[in-house]
Amino acid sequence: MSKITECYILNGEGSKKETRHIVFDLGDSGLDYKVGDALGVFGENPESTVDLLIETAGWDKDQLVTTQNGKKRLRDALKKDVEIHRVNKKYVNSLSQKISTDGMRITVKLIERYRESVAGNGSAWMGGDTPLEAELLPSIPGDDPTGRVESITADGKAMEDYIWSRDYIDVLRDFDVSYTAEEFIELADRLKPRLYSIASSHDAHPGFVELTVAIVRYSHHGRDRGGLCTVYMADEVEINKSDVGVFMSPTKSFVLPADTSTDIIMVGPGTGIAPFRAFMEQRVHDGGTGKNWLFFGDQSEKTEFYYKDTIEDWMDEGNLYRFTTAWSRDQEEKIYVQHRLKEHGAEVWEWFERGAYFYICGDKTYMAKDVHRALIEIAMEHGGMSLDDATFFIEKTMMREEKRYLRDVY
Ligand SMILES: Cc1cc2nc3c(=O)[nH]c(=O)nc-3n(C[C@H](O)[C@H](O)[C@H](O)COP(=O)(O)OP(=O)(O)OC[C@H]3O[C@@H](n4cnc5c(N)ncnc54)[C@H](O)[C@@H]3O)c2cc1C
Ligand SMILES: NC(=O)c1ccc[n+]([C@@H]2O[C@H](COP(=O)([O-])OP(=O)(O)OC[C@H]3O[C@@H](n4cnc5c(N)ncnc54)[C@H](OP(=O)(O)O)[C@@H]3O)[C@@H](O)[C@H]2O)c1
Repeated sequence: MSKITECYILNGEGSKKETRHIVFDLGDSGLDYKVGDALGVFGENPESTVDLLIETAGWDKDQLVTTQNGKKRLRDALKKDVEIHRVNKKYVNSLSQKISTDGMRITVKLIERYRESVAGNGSAWMGGDTPLEAELLPSIPGDDPTGRVESITADGKAMEDYIWSRDYIDVLRDFDVSYTAEEFIELADRLKPRLYSIASSHDAHPGFVELTVAIVRYSHHGRDRGGLCTVYMADEVEINKSDVGVFMSPTKSFVLPADTSTDIIMVGPGTGIAPFRAFMEQRVHDGGTGKNWLFFGDQSEKTEFYYKDTIEDWMDEGNLYRFTTAWSRDQEEKIYVQHRLKEHGAEVWEWFERGAYFYICGDKTYMAKDVHRALIEIAMEHGGMSLDDATFFIEKTMMREEKRYLRDVY
């Protein structure tokens, strides 16, 4: 158990994002870490959601239930042991066995959605030939609860669409179904910890571990909600008071070069900057001669220049040799880190030829793939390689054999 001692927003005023710097006190836990490691954090569901679920389902909050963590009061179990913020497929699939023939509280929403879809198709509906709702209802597929559950569960996309914006409270409001608390605990997912790339060096901050966290918030069906762990850290935890469950998740591969004279290039847009703040702190502490080049980017320089003062100090003191930014929304066209890498392709290639390590952290789905492609293009353009040779060099030589192209992507 750890305490959060600081949890402040890094974005400037007017930002569309909420990215926080969060500091955990490791106290006398004996936990240790190295740069590149991740911290596992056990979040908890918000009390307000737990209470609303208990009320909507008609359960007794003090009833005893058994979870993976033993026997406890229902309210505690719903707070700490199961994920209640997003409905899972298992629960939706179980609805068909629970539903009574007249059990769905549809009507208005379903009719509205039907109207939108008809209007979107440019059909006669737009011409003002509006059928009465009573005439419309029977023609809507799944307008009986059983039919609707079937239309959701029979089609993978319909299921994804249904669960995307809903939690169990929404489902209980959509369908007139009743589950005992024990049945619910059985169906709901166990609460899983989330991992965060550590943004500090233990040598620079003995006894503490620091994170850079993008808080996930959104609103659906008239209620504000968000990510389980990030909202917990941002809204629920009391500074220096709440006990927060954490563990270390050590890395074997995402490590600094053993030789401190080796140059490194770090690419970390958004929260991807986290491990590179840690790397920089460690490189400063270790005092080697290797040069450091950081590529960072996010939406706007004015609002997303995380750790600006620290970065400027590293530059002033000669610890950060190069710092290249990509502010994606400060101009008409998008500028991303891979564009900057390619602009500096000749120099990046020189660094590679001198044996530099290349690190990337952040979004796995788009950014990491685009940066990977940019590296292959740099090898072609500046190394004079064919596509096959460049791909081999980046993916086999640098990544697998020499292990100097390292990724922490999520
Ligand atoms: C190795 C590793 C390192 C990581 N490091 C970091 C880090 O340094 N910083 C960081 O911020 N994160 C990091 N992450 C991500 C982190 O682990 C969590 O996944 C993230 O914080 C979200 O957790 P959560 O519990 O708040 O959200 P969850 O409850 O897990 O919800 C997230 C999910 O919400 C859904 N969602 C998002 N927007 C909407 C919407 N508008 N409507 C409906 N659903 C939506 C998406 O399906 C998304 O996957 C890392 C992950 C890994 C694996
Ligand atoms: N796999 C995941 O679950 C995952 C991974 C990363 C982040 N996220 C979530 O995304 C939210 C914010 O994350 P974040 O703050 O780390 O930043 P981010 O959303 O990854 O954005 C950081 C910067 O990267 C830019 N970007 C977008 N697409 C890109 C691409 N293809 N190549 C290169 N750069 C690209 C963004 O530009 P624009 O926005 O202007 O396009 C922005 O300037 C959080 O909610 C986080 O949880 C989820």
